[in-house]
Amino acid sequence: MLAPDRRAGLRIGLVPTMGALHEGHLSLIRRAREQCDRVVVSLFVNPAQFNERSDLDRYPRQEAHDAGLAAEAGADVLFAPSVEEIYPPGFATTVEVLGITERLEGTARGAEHFRGVTTVVTKLLGMAQPDIAYFGQKDAQQVIIIRRLVADLNLPVRVEVCPTVREPDGLALSSRNAHLNAEERVRALSLSRALSAAAERAATGERSAENLLNAAREAIVPIEPEYLALVDPDTLEPVTQLDEPALLVVAAHVGATRLIDNLILDPLAVSTAPLNPGKAMTTCSA
Ligand code: PAJ
Repeated sequence: MLAPDRRAGLRIGLVPTMGALHEGHLSLIRRAREQCDRVVVSLFVNPAQFNERSDLDRYPRQEAHDAGLAAEAGADVLFAPSVEEIYPPGFATTVEVLGITERLEGTARGAEHFRGVTTVVTKLLGMAQPDIAYFGQKDAQQVIIIRRLVADLNLPVRVEVCPTVREPDGLALSSRNAHLNAEERVRALSLSRALSAAAERAATGERSAENLLNAAREAIVPIEPEYLALVDPDTLEPVTQLDEPALLVVAAHVGATRLIDNLILDPLAVSTAPLNPGKAMTTCSA
């Protein structure tokens, strides 16, 4: 379908999603609209990346509504394949990135999660053959893995990363937020608050990872994080000192809902950064 566009030299952008579109997804589509001649949004709830059947079953599905939102944000094509189209009988190939997939989310969700992501993303890139593919910083580890995948396999695509879109109070937008009841919604704020607390400490000149993490730990109460770590933004190895930009990552269950969030701490930038979490952290609107 896109072959004539490609032959005509038009720039094609792909925004892979699992649907249930919110402002986070829409910011990616708008960015693609600005940068590309044709914008393809894929909508595929990928069974291969769910480690729990119940999570897959309760994943929100609203394709007709999503089609309207995607078009409004600037999508030219909504590609919503069936499971059989992506994984036809005889499908036998998986794509696996080693090492960085085993940490953090890989530990929490099992090796199959990122194997499912990297396999489907490789497949979607092959199907749409975009010039640019768009991903959100919200899923920081996913971005790092996809960058690695694209570099390692010499895939002819540019990976563009959009900042995390947040609610005015700082909560990162996620399709899972819909599962939070009113009391959990309040507690969920602890994740972004913990990130802000560490950023504020870094802004005072604090460089010790332990002290920065302690600031985050104090602010995350009453929630018990599944992990809270300051890591190298390429290797995901823990860092002990904030000498270079580092990635502060957090995951936690709030009731039955598992949430993740992250923030890049930059030892140079933070000293002048505003500390209002809503404003300082809500960046991508395109
Ligand atoms: P999904 O969770 O639907 O997310 C689609 C894209 O939207 C991802 O790149 C994600 O990082 C981005 N996104 C989600 N919330 C965001 C927010 N608050 N701000 C900015 N971007 C946000 O991630 C996936 O789907 C899948 O793993 C996929 C890549 C489609 C492969 O199946």
